[in-house]
Amino acid sequence: MAALCKRNPKSLIFSSVMCFLIQITALNGQLRVGFYSQRCHNAESIVSSVVKEASQREPRMPAMLLRLHFHDCFVQGCDGSILIDNVKEPERNAFGHEGLGGFEEIQKAKTQLEGQCPGVVSCADIVALAARDAVVLAGGPFYEVETGRRDGRVSDLSLAAAMPDVDDSIDVLKGKFKNKGFTEKELVILSGAHTIGTTACFFMPRRLYNFTGRSDADPSINSKFLPELRSKCPKNGNINFRIPLDNASERKFDDQILHNIKNGFAVIASDARLYDDKITRAVIDSYLQRNKSIRNSPSFASDFGLTMIKLGRLDVKTGLVGEIRKVCNSFNKM
Ligand code: HEM
Repeated sequence: MAALCKRNPKSLIFSSVMCFLIQITALNGQLRVGFYSQRCHNAESIVSSVVKEASQREPRMPAMLLRLHFHDCFVQGCDGSILIDNVKEPERNAFGHEGLGGFEEIQKAKTQLEGQCPGVVSCADIVALAARDAVVLAGGPFYEVETGRRDGRVSDLSLAAAMPDVDDSIDVLKGKFKNKGFTEKELVILSGAHTIGTTACFFMPRRLYNFTGRSDADPSINSKFLPELRSKCPKNGNINFRIPLDNASERKFDDQILHNIKNGFAVIASDARLYDDKITRAVIDSYLQRNKSIRNSPSFASDFGLTMIKLGRLDVKTGLVGEIRKVCNSFNKM
């Protein structure tokens, strides 16, 4: 930038305007596809190979990495704040983040990247790229990940209240997504991430045993499915036992989760709530009907990719804001 500012001595106005524009761009910063293509051209392939290797070793990995990106973005934006573990009350210890995983894989990619291009690639970008790679490995859509995020310098448990809770009403869920700029349709699409992965029984007791405080179950659970859920997650049983979120299709990215929600086979309560509401129900129905009749209309998979790109833009820090961490679980020393 300085070199360009010194050049063009004859056209002083032109060079001043150019310098000003470049400085503004650097200050504001912007996400873009291929942000690292000059300064760390292997960045994306390094992340992909770490995700691939980890997923071969641990089949749960794609689901964990996808969830990690969502939880990172929903609290203070996609800034890697979820990765911090050495402050007094880190964001990641919040109730809503229970069961998160994939931290070691993000750090593994970071270590390799620091070896090749130190101080260039943010942890927030690694999380975003890993989530996309995870979706693809599960058979979901490929989408271009914009990069150029910088890492945040705040991690605070109290800020995690923005996270949706499994027992939130549909109005609260809609409100929490709206606060982050997402429509009802996007709430459905993003919840469709539950097409892969599992939940711990930890998140099930209210839905299965005490839905209205009268020892009852959520009436939206299909009567054929309730005994199965109860036998997998018995009252006072092992809260760490894990069951598929997308009954019968837990490792494959597909639209089975939408069929399950419609038919009372949703596993967690927040997914079931999506069929209680007129607007979100209509979104689910429209994707399911599409398969039968409307050709060439956007599919759940393609809309999922687009909405993940939008999620990845949430309150990002770019330009001169934030930092590029040296290790992903701690802030750089000032
Ligand atoms: C609508 C609000 C949401 C709620 C209340 C919610 C809640 C949950 C809960 C309770 C679990 C089980 C966690 C565990 O036991 O480890 C879970 C898992 C998961 N969530 Fe969500 N979630 C929501 C939205 C999302 C979104 C938007 C995404 C991604 C875009 C996502 C991706 C995942 C994935 C992939 C898993 C499986 C994780 C694993 O297998 O380890 N969720 N979610």
